[in-house]
Amino acid sequence: MGFKIAIAGATGNVGREMLNILAERGFPADEVVALASSRSFGTEVSFGDKTLKVQNLENYDFSDTDICLMSAGGTVSQKYSPKIGAKGCVVIDNSSAWRYDADVPLVVPEVNPDAITMFTRKNIIANPNCSTAQLVVALKPLHDRATIKRVVVSTYQSVSGAGKEGMDELFQQTRAVFVADPVESKKFTKRIAFNVIPHIDSFMEDGYTKEEWKVLAETKKILDPKIKVTCTAVRVPVFIGHSESVNIEFENEITADEAREILREAPGCQVIDKHENGGYITPYESAGEDATYISRIREDATVENGLNIWVVSDNLRKGAALNAIQIAELLVARGLIKAKKQAA
Ligand code: A2P
Repeated sequence: MGFKIAIAGATGNVGREMLNILAERGFPADEVVALASSRSFGTEVSFGDKTLKVQNLENYDFSDTDICLMSAGGTVSQKYSPKIGAKGCVVIDNSSAWRYDADVPLVVPEVNPDAITMFTRKNIIANPNCSTAQLVVALKPLHDRATIKRVVVSTYQSVSGAGKEGMDELFQQTRAVFVADPVESKKFTKRIAFNVIPHIDSFMEDGYTKEEWKVLAETKKILDPKIKVTCTAVRVPVFIGHSESVNIEFENEITADEAREILREAPGCQVIDKHENGGYITPYESAGEDATYISRIREDATVENGLNIWVVSDNLRKGAALNAIQIAELLVARGLIKAKKQAA
């Protein structure tokens, strides 16, 4: 017998990608249920070659559901995840609501799979922020080799990270520019079409944004609390695919050639690094792919042991849906979860 899986937020960008990836990877599910708000009740979403009728999360009884993949925002997760967990259904949550809770594991399966075991404390597992996921996949093998001391990250984040509304706004504004209509900004604080915005999520007291803080707090929790991280997070007019310029300072010596070889072998990583026109990856090419791509690997001669790298991945996949499903696969592979129907 397989598992019963619910997707909460199934009509959203990440929810739809979760359904695609569950079908693509042949996750051992006997039944998949699509949940969203009452606004979407009765609409349909695709799952492989089937369509699923969307049900209301508010009325759904999780008693016989094994795993809930949740991507409906932090407020919804805070309200529902504890109740779902209490019904014996493991929540894998894509929001930031539980990531910094000491009783909730924050897991990237290529990086810290062993952290997953403490999920039983709340029956909740957190999925990292999209920028953190691809960053730690690239950093982990380099840290294992030469011990990272400090990381400086600048992100170039696509509008799909801001949900369906973010994608619609880039589309509408681009169209408005071409037909000379007024350009309206609702989701973003300034015009995003043909522009970049150095602001994602809310401002904190120290002048950093919450998005920037998440990258450093999550990198420490997932990879190593001793690593110093600083970040500037920028929204760019790209539909799908986040890019990052990453400067890394190591304790020990590591050359660009060594880093290239290590990353070529590393799980989840793909190196595309030819020193010629087009010999690197752009976010457009990462859309729909699973890998974390690494290009432009160079030594930074301004510090003792430094490297610069360019990291790109599909933020809806490795940055969200794929990582969540890899966590579910890890639960199954390690025998940490049994299908309720089988158990009965
Ligand atoms: P709905 O489409 O019914 O609003 P995105 O991040 O791409 O905007 O998607 C957010 C997802 O979270 C959507 O599936 C949305 O459903 C869902 N969602 C938002 N608010 C709620 C809620 N209160 N209860 C259940 N699902 C919600």
